[in-house]
Amino acid sequence: MAVNSELTSAEKKVLLAFQREREYAPAVLAELADTNEDAVVQTAFTLAKKGLCVVKERRRTYYRLTPEGMEYATDALPERKALRLLLQREGATSVEYLRRALGKRVNIAINWLLRKNWAYIDNGRVIPAVNAEPPYGTDEEILRSLAMAGGETVLEKPEPEREVMTQLISRRLVVSSTRVERRIGITDAGMELIERGLSVEEEIAQLTPEIIRTWKARKFKRYDVNISGREIFAAKLHPYQRILDRMRRIFTEMGFVEIKGEHVQSAFWNFDALFVPQDHPAREMQDTFYLGLKRPIDASEELIARVKAMHEHGGPLDSSGWGGEWSRERGEELLLRTHTTAVTVKYLASHPEPPVKVFCIGRVYRRETIDPTHIPEFDQLEGIIMDRGVTFANLLGCLATFYRKMGFPSIRFRPGYFPYTEPSVEVEVHTDKGWIELGGAGIFRQEVTHPIGVKYPVLAWGLGIGRLAMLSLGLSDIRDLYQPDIDWLRRAWLFPRSEK
Ligand code: FA5
Repeated sequence: MAVNSELTSAEKKVLLAFQREREYAPAVLAELADTNEDAVVQTAFTLAKKGLCVVKERRRTYYRLTPEGMEYATDALPERKALRLLLQREGATSVEYLRRALGKRVNIAINWLLRKNWAYIDNGRVIPAVNAEPPYGTDEEILRSLAMAGGETVLEKPEPEREVMTQLISRRLVVSSTRVERRIGITDAGMELIERGLSVEEEIAQLTPEIIRTWKARKFKRYDVNISGREIFAAKLHPYQRILDRMRRIFTEMGFVEIKGEHVQSAFWNFDALFVPQDHPAREMQDTFYLGLKRPIDASEELIARVKAMHEHGGPLDSSGWGGEWSRERGEELLLRTHTTAVTVKYLASHPEPPVKVFCIGRVYRRETIDPTHIPEFDQLEGIIMDRGVTFANLLGCLATFYRKMGFPSIRFRPGYFPYTEPSVEVEVHTDKGWIELGGAGIFRQEVTHPIGVKYPVLAWGLGIGRLAMLSLGLSDIRDLYQPDIDWLRRAWLFPRSEK
């Protein structure tokens, strides 16, 4: 057993702090030993090695309400609200009615109405499956108790609510974090040592010029060089930002110049200039965020006339266009750009002379049902190469090089369809979960290039950045990229995939 003289004064102080209890939380022991918590834990580990203390560690999971969870906890889950509406109306109700009442949460509400067997759908109408509002379920009880606990609680391991908790986490109503909790206890050997009497004498932990000048025999604190230091999490850029920077670097190194464009575009540049027919489903309100405003189209009258002619009858080309009448009013409508192709086509119109080699990284907006690979706001990486004699093979080669540099050596191209390219491909990369679609590409049709005065082939692509980032960072849900999860952020500093 250690003897008085083999112990540092810090160790003696900690041992002597065990006056009444035989076990303490580090913070309490720190107060009793008149030192700080980190020092107590560190000393307790050295005492444990000498058999005088024990350090017990326990991982606990804490659960916290997200802002949405808090809102539902104080109000009601969307499915309960929907059920109340259904019961009030006594009978079948259209989805449209629920949408008007519940807004964007209607899909979530219907999804959970069905999962909880509170309603069913028949012929497009929602019909309640219960006669009265059911009592609160475990999920709602948990939300309420979390709200009452000020938003945070801890649950012990084998609790029956675990499954429901997992469900609430996947609904993004609750987030969890794990913390290590310690208790420090004294052993019998430690107690014996105290009983025999411990004398604490002043020990010097830090050499100063003063001590060296007035040198005399003193007791110095011994250092244990085997103890690992406290983990330090240095400040760093968000992993997603680092992926954006890496993409930027790759394209810049390949000789591309970065361009920027407006988030608010006219339907003309987002759709018409790209030869997207005016009755194309992607242009509908349910797919695109329109601002409800119009502005004269920011293009010359000649260009607008050429686009109109192209849509109506194919202009001077050997093309029949889409037929019908092209409406200028529809082109004037303002919207949140649905793809960054609006930016590159506009750039081409003002730079029709070869060569053009530009890329654009930017946010795009779509009305989407949210799921692990779809969010309504995401970033795209757009690029074009316009020059004499560039070919489809150059396009595929350029994309393969980019993905290889991003750490995805295995990619494939599948035939695709976009109204503005011919041929068109979809780019897929191989992951442990199989092939995942990351982008679209092709050669701009003459119906696009002719009206904007471009005479040479244009290789074009638009790649989803979020999905690629998700795969690069080993995530399985695109929404996780935007979670303020400090534990993940601290550790997500290495790319699972390194540049090849
Ligand atoms: C386009 O947006 C085309 N403009 C791409 C293009 C450009 C084709 C130039 C030809 C020439 P698409 O809708 O498939 O294509 O979207 C491209 C990529 O964006 C998808 O492969 C996907 O990775 C990503 N993406 C699409 N929707 C979402 C979403 N809701 N959430 C996250 N990523 C998405």
